[in-house]
Amino acid sequence: MTRAVYPGSFDPATYGHLDVIKRASKLFDQVIVGVLLNSTKSPLFSVEERVNILKDATALLGNVAVYSFEGLSVNFAREHHASVIIRGLRAVTDFEYELQMAQTNRVLAPDVDTMFLTTSLEYAYLSSTIMKEVARFGGDLGRFAPPQITRRVIEKLQKQGDK
Ligand code: PNS
Repeated sequence: MTRAVYPGSFDPATYGHLDVIKRASKLFDQVIVGVLLNSTKSPLFSVEERVNILKDATALLGNVAVYSFEGLSVNFAREHHASVIIRGLRAVTDFEYELQMAQTNRVLAPDVDTMFLTTSLEYAYLSSTIMKEVARFGGDLGRFAPPQITRRVIEKLQKQGDK
């Protein structure tokens, strides 16, 4: 049984992330999405919210599970008996950081390999940060994530604005 983990911040998930998850779910017997509890970044959504958003969005994919994690991605992979870490590559600008991370992970855990899936062209520009930026200025989010996610982004930003 081949099992892969897909770690990330997912604040929140976009169509780009969901595309990677769907494609990975066809390549591996099981895909475990790991939502990082980032102590340094201040995410828009709590880790529980990010996990729930992803659980809802992947509910139809029978071989995908979603968990939160703290610490190293390689430890998350090992805890779930996964031999592969999946990452999406959008453009050459991602490459340096991703290569450094993959190489570090390989030093830390030679038994865990990183596999890159190139993002589908229509999502190559997209990131959670871009989506939140557009949302802050009232732009249309329809091309960035499914309605159940974009609605939550708008509600969250409205709540923040009320404070
Ligand atoms: O969605 P992101 O923010 O690009 O994901 C980055 C993530 C979570 C994959 C990366 O920051 C990570 O793996 N963090 C956990 C700590 C770790 O294992 N770092 C890699 C070795 S430097």
